Amino acid sequence: MAYKIEAFVEDLKRLNAAHAPPKEILPEIAPLAARLSEDQSWVQSSFYDIDENQGIGITVLHEEPDHTLLVEAIVWAPGKGVLPHDHQTWGVVVGLDGTERNTIWQRTDDGSRQNHAVLEVHHEADVGKGQTIVFMPNDIHSVKNITDRPSLSLHIYGKSLAHTGRSEFEPETNTIRPCPVRAKRPLI
Ligand SMILES: [Fe+2]
Repeated sequence: MAYKIEAFVEDLKRLNAAHAPPKEILPEIAPLAARLSEDQSWVQSSFYDIDENQGIGITVLHEEPDHTLLVEAIVWAPGKGVLPHDHQTWGVVVGLDGTERNTIWQRTDDGSRQNHAVLEVHHEADVGKGQTIVFMPNDIHSVKNITDRPSLSLHIYGKSLAHTGRSEFEPETNTIRPCPVRAKRPLI
């Protein structure tokens, strides 16, 4: 029987109820997320609808009433991506269709100057179907679809990103600022 979002969310709730720290919960969730990429009968064609203003399209599949346990599908237009950002909560991403390049950044300044942050590229990781990448709350990454067709991935976070007070970075100008809240659509 296919492993679908409903069963995944029940597993998420069970794991989250144990109140394990991120570095313990992430290795438990990543293989479950990878299982969702095998039988994709739960993926709807509407997940591929791109919000032209953002260059991506976000469909919320689950969020608890207290804004914990966010599960969302994100489609990325060819060549589109997002600037470096942190999440201020744990995160797991699994590729569903196509390949997305994640650039992992390291912050090298001491954080003492307001609105100022210096980033260096730490490494790059291409995430394709069934491949996962995990993030601790302070990890910084940027994402870009480097292919010529839309890519789709599933994102799972400990808390809704609209409620974590996370940051966005502009490495070219050494700027840090509040991360913009992205437009999303509910599952219909
Ligand atoms: Fe992210």
